[in-house]
Amino acid sequence: MRVIILGAGGLGSVFGARLAEQGADVTLVARPTHVEAINKNGLKISGVNGDSTITNITAVSSADDAVGEFDYLILGVKSKDTAATLAGAASLKGRIKTACSFQNNTTKEDDLANWLGAEHVIGFATIEAAQLIEPGHASHTFKLPLSTYFGELDGTITPRIEAIVDICNAAGIGTKAMPNIKQVMWEKITQIANAAGWSVSTLAGNKNLVMNDGMVIQEGAEHYVQYARELISVYKALGYQPENFFAPVSKLKELDGGSFDDAVATVIAIGEGMNKAGMKGRPSMFTDVISGKKTEVEETIGPFVHKARELGISVPTVDAVYRIIKVLDHYLV
Ligand SMILES: NC(=O)c1ccc[n+]([C@@H]2O[C@H](COP(=O)([O-])OP(=O)(O)OC[C@H]3O[C@@H](n4cnc5c(N)ncnc54)[C@H](OP(=O)(O)O)[C@@H]3O)[C@@H](O)[C@H]2O)c1
Repeated sequence: MRVIILGAGGLGSVFGARLAEQGADVTLVARPTHVEAINKNGLKISGVNGDSTITNITAVSSADDAVGEFDYLILGVKSKDTAATLAGAASLKGRIKTACSFQNNTTKEDDLANWLGAEHVIGFATIEAAQLIEPGHASHTFKLPLSTYFGELDGTITPRIEAIVDICNAAGIGTKAMPNIKQVMWEKITQIANAAGWSVSTLAGNKNLVMNDGMVIQEGAEHYVQYARELISVYKALGYQPENFFAPVSKLKELDGGSFDDAVATVIAIGEGMNKAGMKGRPSMFTDVISGKKTEVEETIGPFVHKARELGISVPTVDAVYRIIKVLDHYLV
């Protein structure tokens, strides 16, 4: 299997490394400093699976330098870089059989389809997490027993879905083929918008805080539930019901069902559990804000604001979170 990761930072490097460990022929297209470090010392991966250094991997700093045809392209840049990255990768067209992306947005499949043709595009969602530590080194920061889903956008399960699912599972990434991948991707974005928007609107004034610090405070938990319920109301208006695809992390069913007070108690209990386990949960949008980097607010929370308008749903808390983060984001680079 030949795989190209277009824009390999944190998560792209980890996926590339895991697939290369299973014998896939992987090419990373990455920033020059990352490429130089990989070509000199291999790709170092630390984190949840321990330390390893991958040497059977190709790293190039331009798509023009990638050689041959690829069974899969994984778009790994942040959403803000998609247009420029795809425009700069025209030389790959005609050499890619299947394309997908783990980006947190609702437009990645359309972006890839417009670039390559809809017949080449499949759906992909993952809650595996990673971070680029330094050039040549990425940390695999989070995994779940079942964290990753692929599916055809028309709901079928085809050999190209089964092949990528099989190699991810062999690589230790719990993966499943899904007939309803569009729902999985919307539920993922609901969950991400919830954790990211809540943490920035609640905690970003103090860069020492982590999610659990806010979840154990009554008002923090109340804001969490109110905001979650409004996001879920948009998700449901699209015709879906919460399924907790990313259990045990997903708690959308619990946040949506039952009384408001019970849901608040659930959030406080999760925060207390995280405290007890010594966890320091912090969504990447929160990290972006405190490290001065532009966020993906438009791509992750924007869809809920705009869909709610379109469908005539009142979501005042979502609006407020979006407005607050848009202001912070305006001054980030
Ligand atoms: N990290 C996670 O745990 C995680 C989990 C699930 C989903 N996601 C989603 O996945 C996407 C990527 O996240 P990430 O954390 O992996 O981001 P990241 O670490 O910033 O990786 C993206 C990399 O692409 C590079 N890049 C940008 N344009 C490029 C180009 N034209 N050619 C080559 N390299 C280019 C970036 O370099 P510069 O930084 O120099 O621009 C960066 O190194 C986001 O949409 C995120 O929401 C992330």
